[in-house]
Amino acid sequence: MSKTLNVGMIGYGFMGRAHSNAYRQVGQFFPSSYRVVLKAACARDAAKVKPFADQWGYESIETDWRKLVERKDIDVIDICTPNNLHKEIAVAAAANKKMILCEKPLAMNGIEGKEMVDAVEKAGVANMVWYNYRRIPAVTLAKRLIDEGKLGRIFHYRAKFLQDWTIKADLPQGGQGLWRLDVAAAGSGVSGDLLAHCIDTAIWLNGDMSSICSMTETFVKERLHTLTGKVEKVGIDDACIFMGKFNNGSLANFESTRYARGHKALYTFEINGENMSLFWDLHDLHRLQVFDYRDEGKIRGWKSVHVTDNSPDHPYMDKWWVPGLAIGYDASFTHQVADFITALEKGERPLPDFRDAQRTQLVLDAILDSAKNGNWVQVKQV
Ligand SMILES: NC(=O)c1ccc[n+]([C@@H]2O[C@H](COP(=O)([O-])OP(=O)(O)OC[C@H]3O[C@@H](n4cnc5c(N)ncnc54)[C@H](O)[C@@H]3O)[C@@H](O)[C@H]2O)c1
Repeated sequence: MSKTLNVGMIGYGFMGRAHSNAYRQVGQFFPSSYRVVLKAACARDAAKVKPFADQWGYESIETDWRKLVERKDIDVIDICTPNNLHKEIAVAAAANKKMILCEKPLAMNGIEGKEMVDAVEKAGVANMVWYNYRRIPAVTLAKRLIDEGKLGRIFHYRAKFLQDWTIKADLPQGGQGLWRLDVAAAGSGVSGDLLAHCIDTAIWLNGDMSSICSMTETFVKERLHTLTGKVEKVGIDDACIFMGKFNNGSLANFESTRYARGHKALYTFEINGENMSLFWDLHDLHRLQVFDYRDEGKIRGWKSVHVTDNSPDHPYMDKWWVPGLAIGYDASFTHQVADFITALEKGERPLPDFRDAQRTQLVLDAILDSAKNGNWVQVKQV
């Protein structure tokens, strides 16, 4: 008989939809001993959250997250709110012995992140952070190749995440849809929003970073704040470039901006090892570009591997369609729920959990510290 996993989700925006879709898909494609039940959706405005709950099949709604985390019929709290609410909700959910799935970045900063790690570990509840890019099959394949030692010694890791949606100087900051420009809600700009993904993937693939030197820029210094009605200073980083060193001796080179005209979500990474290089691009998410120096000379060159074979060689793909057919961005969230359930079944630590995500948080702290003070910063280790 299947056990139920009753989900209480807070926030019904972009991630609220992505996660709801994953909860509805997971049982169909990744059968398990758990049945996911969409128990309650929560947001402040009942008139807005009710149609969302009806559309996605949630059994009930709440307008106060504090009530939701206390409900006896909820097993998992899913935090899909702006970053400034992650800690408060997670700590309260842990105190109520709920499992927690929290959106990234884990927190506003490392101090908050540590409180969250302590809270879930003290409560002994399963927890995970939605660094979903780890679960794109081509990215997971990169991890396998690295773990198998195919790359040999790694020299370089470079990543970028480029967008262009905040270039307009009259775009306001704050409130629904624009909280990412408000430092009080977001904690930081592109570093916590976009580079957090790049850093999580990098740490997962290449290990922790030891030191950072960064530069940030805020191109538009003041914007109208939708919540106060006043023109206010912009406190987020619009762009961030940093270099650094990994503990394994390889060099890091990262860039993110929301001012790269023409780019909507250009997330790419490249890893150069002594035997092999790998390159991945979110716009072509099914492909892993591989260069293997050990290939026979006359056919040596970059290979474009379409990661869609339904053999165990290609992660997750045996659960989907026939070989050669692609799945999308949304599937990374389905994979994340499937992996969470597998970890519950096996009694293992679901990854990335809060402790794991805190590694990224500490790199983010180092980035902002370095940019502010103009010097190299040692990254604190978890
Ligand atoms: N994993 C990813 O790829 C990814 C992508 C986008 C966003 N995110 C993260 O997900 C989180 C949410 O981002 P989003 O894009 O979904 O934002 P969004 O603005 O689309 O949605 C935020 C939701 O939070 C709700 N909310 C705000 N304050 C609340 C409160 N006090 N009580 C209850 N609900 C409240 C809003 O009503 C809204 O429904 C952020 O932490 C963000 O960094 C992750």
